[in-house]
Amino acid sequence: MASLTINAQPLDIRLPEDTPLLWALRDAANLTGTKYGCGTGECGACTVIVDGQAMPSCTLSLGEAEGRSVTTIEGLSPDRNHPVQQAFAAEQAIQCGFCTPGLIMAAAALLAHNADPSEADVFAALPHVCRCGVQPRLVRAVQRAG
Ligand code: FES
Repeated sequence: MASLTINAQPLDIRLPEDTPLLWALRDAANLTGTKYGCGTGECGACTVIVDGQAMPSCTLSLGEAEGRSVTTIEGLSPDRNHPVQQAFAAEQAIQCGFCTPGLIMAAAALLAHNADPSEADVFAALPHVCRCGVQPRLVRAVQRAG
């Protein structure tokens, strides 16, 4: 079991501590906006914000998340109107949409620390899961949100 804060709500999750946070979010907290891609911390589809830092939830265990504050795509903006979400829509930076939650969380974490990122900053910060070819639009969206 682990006690953590998810989307500003304290929550006790009764799963083994070595359970990946991704599965705790999806299966125990019913927050299915966070997606499973590779399961090895490479693709970024499962990115959430933990204590202000974007990180893959597939490689962070529930035990490691104990006592920490986790924000998922569901908690980023209750009305789905976060500036990053607005900019992704405005720049049409979404194609199939599978990796979009992870990209938005990574972008939101980047902009919280750097409101005027360069193209290189955006490419360095965002996961590389998207295979739909929207990278130029992604960069424009993140810079627009900043
Ligand atoms: Fe976590 Fe790919 S599913 S990084």
